[in-house]
Amino acid sequence: MFFSRGQIIEILSSEDVSLRDDLCARAHNARLKYAGEGIHYRGLIEISNLCRKNCLYCGIRRGNKVVTRYDMPDNQIFELTNIAYLKGYDYVMIQAGERQDASFISRIESIIATITQRYNGKMKVALSLGEQTEATYSRWHEAGAARYLLRIEASNENLYHKIHPCDNTHSYDVRKNAVATLKKCGFLTGSGVMIGLPFQTIENLADDLLWLRDMEVDMCGMGPYIPHSQTPLYQYKDIIPSEEKRVDLTLKMTAILRLMMPHINIASTTALSTLHPDGSLSCGANVLMPRLTPCTDCYKLYDSYE
Ligand code: 5AD
Ligand code: SF4
Repeated sequence: MFFSRGQIIEILSSEDVSLRDDLCARAHNARLKYAGEGIHYRGLIEISNLCRKNCLYCGIRRGNKVVTRYDMPDNQIFELTNIAYLKGYDYVMIQAGERQDASFISRIESIIATITQRYNGKMKVALSLGEQTEATYSRWHEAGAARYLLRIEASNENLYHKIHPCDNTHSYDVRKNAVATLKKCGFLTGSGVMIGLPFQTIENLADDLLWLRDMEVDMCGMGPYIPHSQTPLYQYKDIIPSEEKRVDLTLKMTAILRLMMPHINIASTTALSTLHPDGSLSCGANVLMPRLTPCTDCYKLYDSYE
């Protein structure tokens, strides 16, 4: 279904609950019709919280010295993968902070190959390991990984710079071009944004949706921004939309995206379920990523209220 920028802005700005309910109902029907009735489960394994980056919103940013860093041993990754397999999931989502060193790259390559071979293709690997070179993406794809998730976070360049340090490690252009690079390397590629960031406008969110459409992403994960007290962006916690508003915007963004791109995979994100336990499965989402990581506090991107 076609949405103009103006229509998206109007829907996102509306306070009318019945409009949202109607939008969600239409998105839900589109999901059933075009993406299928089933929900896809990806077992999320957060293999390490070491990260070379310093994103201003994220609790495991390099600059947060209070975090206890960990790096899960291979055998634990394989045990958790087996749990995912026994639960009937057909994917594990391997996630970590960003690292680009040679030992990390080859270790991931061999983990991917082991999982892919062990289950004869019945357990597939999705990755969420940040920005890498084209050569690394290719190596990991050749080792057997099928999907890669790398959110743009904010498609507007000015906003991107307000939520990331302005240095070579956080280049907007590299981030923006990564989706095309990942597709070129053969990945089913996902992106997504945070919703309700400080300085973010409704127009920014409308443009995020148009960007995801233009990039022809294969999957998307969008969730509300949730402040983390040990991050620089926390100081702006009082100028962001209320929790209720961020949930409302997330549900409407999800529904519009489903109607715009009926066939893609859309995740109901962990950040959304933190604020809204029902998630977005009734507003167009069709993917859940249950956490398999056993530690509860080791990979805290945002403050939780549990
Ligand atoms: N609130 C919500 N989502 C966050 N992420 C990181 N920090 C936060 C936060 N404070 C999201 C980013 C990243 C994904 C792994 O988690 O979008 O891509
Ligand atoms: Fe690292 Fe990702 Fe957090 Fe940025 S959002 S600091 S890249 S883990």
